[in-house]
Amino acid sequence: MKKVVKPYESSASKKEQIRTMFDNVAGRYDFLNRLLSLGVDITWRKRLIREMKAYQPNHILDMATGTADLAIMAARSLPQTRITGIDLSPNMIEYGLKKIENKDIKQRIELIVGDSEKMNIEDDHFDGAMVAFGVRNFENLTKGLMELHRVLKPGKPLMVLEFSKPTIFPVKQLFNVYFRYILPAIGKLFSKDPKAYTYLYESVQAFPEYDDFQAIMEEAGFKRCRWHALTFGICSLYIGEK
Ligand SMILES: C[S@@+](CC[C@H](N)C(=O)[O-])C[C@H]1O[C@@H](n2cnc3c(N)ncnc32)[C@H](O)[C@@H]1O
Repeated sequence: MKKVVKPYESSASKKEQIRTMFDNVAGRYDFLNRLLSLGVDITWRKRLIREMKAYQPNHILDMATGTADLAIMAARSLPQTRITGIDLSPNMIEYGLKKIENKDIKQRIELIVGDSEKMNIEDDHFDGAMVAFGVRNFENLTKGLMELHRVLKPGKPLMVLEFSKPTIFPVKQLFNVYFRYILPAIGKLFSKDPKAYTYLYESVQAFPEYDDFQAIMEEAGFKRCRWHALTFGICSLYIGEK
């Protein structure tokens, strides 16, 4: 990580600021996610789940589950699998719970408020772990990844989706204009927290990507690490095994 990027200019820790920011945006989060990604995020999530399916997991952890989009998608695609979603923001979890109430998948999804860096879960517990657009927000990235490693059974995978910066002309230039100027402007219009979408741009700029993020996963103990660039490298899927 080049520097610690926080949403607000306050002395509160990154973790406190992140919790506040996601509590503020929770109500409009799903709507803005679909709008700003033009729905492409769904294809990225589907790709992760396809990779996860190959491991035939019984119980998956969805860390930084937010409003539980990925957890819900996983529950639908993997009908034998249980999913535990954990998130720092109580409001995001509340919206996630609303989305699953009265649905049959509710029996297989539990959603809990918690912290990626300190989980109240025993070692070697899950058959798979996934994090979609969450690791960038961790206060201590290596610590968070080490915790994810600890709660996985040996040989089981961690899969991470995170924004990356495309390198190909003209996608690189177009993406930069969209992400830096257009996306924060739309975010300001619709979101209750104008800082959130400026933070999104700044945090993606500062975040390690491709081989650099893979090296941090390896440092946290993951083996057989690899990454796949999705949609010209706008997003990357990182996979490693305990
Ligand atoms: C961009 S949202 C992604 C939500 C969801 N995974 C998705 O794909 O829509 C990032 C989420 O990470 C959560 N988060 C950030 N730091 C966290 C931490 N240390 N432990 C647990 N959740 C965290 C935030 O509260 C937020 O809900």
